[in-house]
Order: sequence, then structure tokens, then C-alpha cells
Amino acid sequence: MSDANVTKTQLGFNLLPIELCSVFFQKSGVRLIDGVSVTLNSRGITVILGPNGAGKSILLRLLHGLETPNEGTVLFKGVVADETIKRKQAMVFQNAVLLRRSVMENLSFVANLYKPQQPSNLLELLAEVGLAEKQHMPARRLSGGEKQRLCLARALISQPELLLLDEPTASLDPYSVQMIETLLIKLQHQNTKIIFITHDLNQSRRLAEDILFIYKGRLEAFQPADSLFEKPDSEFAKAFIEGRLIF
Ligand SMILES: Nc1ncnc2c1ncn2[C@@H]1O[C@H](COP(=O)(O)OP(=O)(O)OP(=O)(O)O)[C@@H](O)[C@H]1O
Ligand SMILES: [Mg+2]
Repeated sequence: MSDANVTKTQLGFNLLPIELCSVFFQKSGVRLIDGVSVTLNSRGITVILGPNGAGKSILLRLLHGLETPNEGTVLFKGVVADETIKRKQAMVFQNAVLLRRSVMENLSFVANLYKPQQPSNLLELLAEVGLAEKQHMPARRLSGGEKQRLCLARALISQPELLLLDEPTASLDPYSVQMIETLLIKLQHQNTKIIFITHDLNQSRRLAEDILFIYKGRLEAFQPADSLFEKPDSEFAKAFIEGRLIF
């Protein structure tokens, strides 16, 4: 991993700023993202908060180009994502899908799509998510939390400059949460822009530089993390933080 990381460090945060410009998105006549405009320019971790069904996962899919806005645009450094920009991104989904192969083969299959990897590098990657000892196990026999960690490792193979994570620690035990948080901080220091969804407010306080608060498809607040927790710009965000808001 290290050689390529040096290259990435030299490149810097090449996809910033990330802009959503008046983005509207609907399905079956229902408006799910309702005029979101925001510019993300921080090198720190950006967290997306909001109640169930608010539109967080859809927003992440729009950022990754898996969904196309009905109106508005998503820009990276001022341009719509082309194949080159898309290749610099990786996303980990809320529901993990793994190949019916071993843990290691799930990584090597993806690695071979990019370039031949040294097996030791992949083992190193598995060790980072605490799965080195399970490398030969069928991936589908892993526990839910282990599958989630394998999906994160798989996403890191392409050494993305932008990492989009949909509730990456939702089913992890406290030790694994800490392991993943340490990994995310390390990646951020290696110039990976990270945007992730979580329902864990303490985790947001620990990791986020800034926070997007989404409610009913609308961006209700976009603030530095400290300021959001201290004095949220939105009544909805305040109610959410205090545990009073449902969708
Ligand atoms: N293809 C679709 N057609 C119609 N509605 C959809 C479609 N996909 C998602 N939705 C609706 O859009 C809303 C937002 O979904 P989304 O998955 O983004 O929520 P979320 O904020 O990620 O919630 P959670 O915290 O539960 O993961 C939900 O009410 C969902 O039912
Ligand atoms: Mg979701």
C-alpha cells in the first residue's frame, strides 16, 4: 500500500471541492432529495446524520454517481464525474454483498481488476480490519460485523481519494468500532476524503470535522461538528440530537 499512498499524498485532496448544486431526486413521483445545495471543502471527515428514511443513503448514491439527479448537478472540483473521477471513489454499502469465495479471494478478485497485488499487501489490508486469521474462510460464513469490515477492506484496494461509507460500524462491537475508527483517521491523514453516514452521535463527535444533517430529503444543517452539537442551525437537528425527532 505504501508506495501508492505516497503518490496519493502528492496528489492531495484532488476531488475537492465536492458540490451538490440544487439537487432534486425523485422515484415513483415521490421527491426523496429536495433541493440540496452544499459545498464540501474540508479535508476532515464529513458525517451525514438524519433519522431513518431521511435520504442519507440516496444522497451518498448520488455522490457516487449510482443515481442521477432529476435536477441539479454533483461536481468534483467544478466538473461532473467522468470515468477517471469515478475510479478515484469507492463506496461501502449499508448491506454487504460478498462473493461466494474465501475472504482473501474477495479481495484478490477486486485487486486483479486494478493491478496484480502482492498477496502480502492484501494480507496487510485484512490485518487492518482484523480479518487476517480468517483469510481462508468462506466470506459468506463471516459474521455480520466481519462482513462489514471485509467490505471496507475491499473498498480500500483501489486506494480511493474519496471514500463513501454507509453506516460502516453499524453492527460492530466496541473493539471493532475502535479499529475501524483508527483506520478511518489513518486514511484521512493519507489524504483520503471520507464521507460517512452514522447514527452514532458520539462517533460523530469523535470523528467529524463537519456534519450534514438531512431531514425529509432536505439539507437542514451543514456545520462544523462542534458547532452543530453546541448550537444547531436547525430546530430539526436540535430535536434529533436530543432524541426527540422521528421521520
Ligand atoms: N426506489 C425507491 N422508490 C421509492 N422510494 C424510495 C426508493 N429508494 C428509497 N426510497 C425511499 O426514500 C427514503 C430515503 O431512503 P434512504 O435509504 O436514503 O434513507 P436513509 O436516510 O438512508 O435511512 P436509514 O437511516 O434507515 O438507512 C425512504 O423513505 C425510502 O423508502
Ligand atoms: Mg440508509
